[in-house]
Amino acid sequence: MILDCTLGGGGHSKEILKSILPGGTLISLDCDIEAIKSFEDFARDFSLNLKLVKGNFSELDEILLSFGIKEVDGILFDLGISSTQLNDARRGFSFQVDSPLDMRMDSNMSLTASHIVNDFSEDDLSYIIYHYGEEKHARKIAREIVKTRKISRILSTKQLSDIVVRAVSRNLRKRRKIHPSTKTFMGLRIFLNKELDTLEKGLKKALKVLKSGGRLVVISFHSLEDRIVKRIFKDASMKKCLHDLSLCKCEGFPLVRLLNKKPLFPGKEEELLNPRSRSARLRALEKF
Ligand SMILES: C[S@@+](CC[C@H](N)C(=O)[O-])C[C@H]1O[C@@H](n2cnc3c(N)ncnc32)[C@H](O)[C@@H]1O
Repeated sequence: MILDCTLGGGGHSKEILKSILPGGTLISLDCDIEAIKSFEDFARDFSLNLKLVKGNFSELDEILLSFGIKEVDGILFDLGISSTQLNDARRGFSFQVDSPLDMRMDSNMSLTASHIVNDFSEDDLSYIIYHYGEEKHARKIAREIVKTRKISRILSTKQLSDIVVRAVSRNLRKRRKIHPSTKTFMGLRIFLNKELDTLEKGLKKALKVLKSGGRLVVISFHSLEDRIVKRIFKDASMKKCLHDLSLCKCEGFPLVRLLNKKPLFPGKEEELLNPRSRSARLRALEKF
């Protein structure tokens, strides 16, 4: 019994399915209904082994319980957004594709990037861009956003990207490795979709529903995510006394064994085949 918490384009789910047939079950979830719909045709041929669920991994325990499942043998999180979402001109995730400022992974959410950019205060914008995007020019960018929206609302990714470039243009003489809008877009997306909060909840629940001997694998794409994964993994691997005795003499037991002390990075070959994998890092553990 395997849980893929991030179906996306289904690449991992297809590979997992190959290795668990004929007897195993895979539950694949995604909070984006488009990801689920795109995979339904493929899933039809595997109805006995594969269950698709539109849901958030922060509620993975309840999702499993709705199928009567209390424990699983393996769990995968492949964080962030999929290439399909990034390239979709209706979704607003990319400054390279001109589209409405949306950025919601789950289209049932009411808050969009447009609300944040047009209605949040300058201080709040600056905070979001700095803390979630790790953008050191956050204050200048927030100021430029507020100045521009006084004239007219900011409606598209292209408009927002132009504003960011304008705000940091004086600093552009120092060549950046990434596009000047990258961090601002990332910060807005992470805040809007509550990505750090859902990750923390999802990982803690994953540790609970993992069977003894089961494995948890997480692929993250930036340092804010990886910091959370690293902390939760490390904490679970430390000795802890779970006995309900105030004077217990036992030295405690770790809940998990880390399968790799340092994160694994893609090799050169994989980076060439899939340039988006460049910033990926993988951590894995096994439950005792
Ligand atoms: C990087 S993609 C996964 C790609 C996938 N592993 C593949 O092989 O194609 C991440 C996916 O996770 C989904 N996602 C992100 N946060 C989520 C959450 N909290 N709950 C459920 N799905 C989430 C996104 O909508 C996106 O489709």
